[in-house]
Amino acid sequence: MRETVYVLGGGQTRFGELWEASLADLIREAVDRAIENTEILPTDIDAVVIGNMLGGETAGQAHLGTLVSGCLPHHPPALRVEAACASGGLAVHTACALLESDKAETILVVGAEKLTDVPGETVTSALMHAADAEKDSPSGLTFPGIFALTATAYMHAYGISRENLSLVSACSHRAAVSNPFAQFRRELPPEAVSKSPLVADPLRLLDCSPISDGAAAIILSTKRESPVRIAASQLASERLSLSDRPSLTSFGSTRSAFDRALAEASWQRNDIDCIELHDCFSTATLIHLEDLGYCEEGEAIRLYCQKDTDSNGSLPVNPSGGLKACGHPIGATGVKQILDCYKQLTGQAPNQVRNAIRALAHNVGGVGATCVVHLLESIA
Ligand code: COA
Repeated sequence: MRETVYVLGGGQTRFGELWEASLADLIREAVDRAIENTEILPTDIDAVVIGNMLGGETAGQAHLGTLVSGCLPHHPPALRVEAACASGGLAVHTACALLESDKAETILVVGAEKLTDVPGETVTSALMHAADAEKDSPSGLTFPGIFALTATAYMHAYGISRENLSLVSACSHRAAVSNPFAQFRRELPPEAVSKSPLVADPLRLLDCSPISDGAAAIILSTKRESPVRIAASQLASERLSLSDRPSLTSFGSTRSAFDRALAEASWQRNDIDCIELHDCFSTATLIHLEDLGYCEEGEAIRLYCQKDTDSNGSLPVNPSGGLKACGHPIGATGVKQILDCYKQLTGQAPNQVRNAIRALAHNVGGVGATCVVHLLESIA
C-alpha cells in the first residue's frame, strides 16, 4: 500500500431472514453501528462506497450510493460497485484505491443485500446473472448447479468421500455458535450434512451457504490512526464462463490475487494467523484452500480431518462461521469479512484465535471469476 490505510472498525446487522427490515433499514442499521463503534463524527466521512449485487432485482432499489450518502448529514460523494458475491470485497478495494490516490481521507464502506422478500426462484435466477449469460445460463444451470459441476470434478479427481466432505460445513457451524450475528448458531453433526436433501448432486442443502439478508459497514482512514491496518488489497479476474476454463478444480483468480497480496505486504502465507474464506459451497472451500497454497491439490480435506481449520487449530479458517453458518447476503459478505478480521486482530472476536496478528480476507465472485484478497495486520 502506498499510504497506510487504517481500519477504524465497523458494525453489522445480524445476517438471516430479516423480513421486518428493508434494504434501506439494514443499511442504516449497519452505518449507525459503524459510526457508533468507531466514535467518529459522521461529517469526518468524505466518501462512501457500497457493494451490492441485486438491489434492483430483489429489493426494487438501485442507486444505493446516494441512498447511503443520505444517511449522513452532509451527503458526501458516493458510489456503488458490483462484482457478484465479491461486491463487498470490491467496495473495500475501491475505497483503498481512493484513499491511496488522496481522493478521500476517511471512507465509509458498506456491503448490503436483501434477498428474502422475493420468492426463492427469483433469487436463484437473479444469482445466475453472475455467470456467463451466453455460455452458461442457457443450459438451465443454477448457482448450486454450476458449483456442483466443479464439485463432481473435484471429488472424482481426488476421491473425496461424502463422509469427509461433511466435516467442512460442520467446522463452520461449530465456529458460529458464539457469533451473535450468525444466521445459524447451532452445531451441525457431519452426519446431518450427509443426510440433508440433495440440491444439485453431489451438493446437499447443508453443503451450501444459505440465502440471507444483511448489511455490514466499516470505516477506513488514512487520517485517523487505529491498531489495525490494511497491508494489501488485490483484485484478480478469471474467465467468466466455466466452459473457457483450463480447470474445474482450481480458480486462477484466487491464486493471482493472493500471490500479489503476499508480494504487496512482503509476507509469506504462513505469516497469516487466521482466514475469513469464501466458503460458499463445501467443495469450493477445499478448492480455495488449495489455490491459496496451504496444501497440495486434493489435500485440503486433510486439514478438516485433523481439525487444523478450527479456531484453535494450526490454520484457523472462518472462526466467524463463514458464509456457510453466518449467512451470505451477497454484497455484505466481503465487508463483514474485514470486520471479522478487525475483531480478531483487536481481541474482540466471539471465537477468538489466540495471538492473532495477521489475517486474510478472501472474497470470491461467480465461480471463482473474481477474487478480492485483503491482508490485515495488528500494529498495536
Ligand atoms: N444451512 C443450514 N440450514 C439451512 C440452509 C443452510 N445453507 N439453508 C436452509 N437451511 C434451513 C432453513 O433454515 C430451513 O429450516 P427450517 O425448516 O427449520 O426453517 C430449511 O433448512 C429449509 O430451508 P429452505 O430455505 O426452504 O431451503 P431452500 O431449499 O429454499 O434453499 C438452498 C436451500 C441451498 C437451495 C439455498 O439456500 C441456496 O440456493 N443456496 C445457495 C445460494 C447461492 O448460490 N449463493 C451464491 C453463492 S456463490
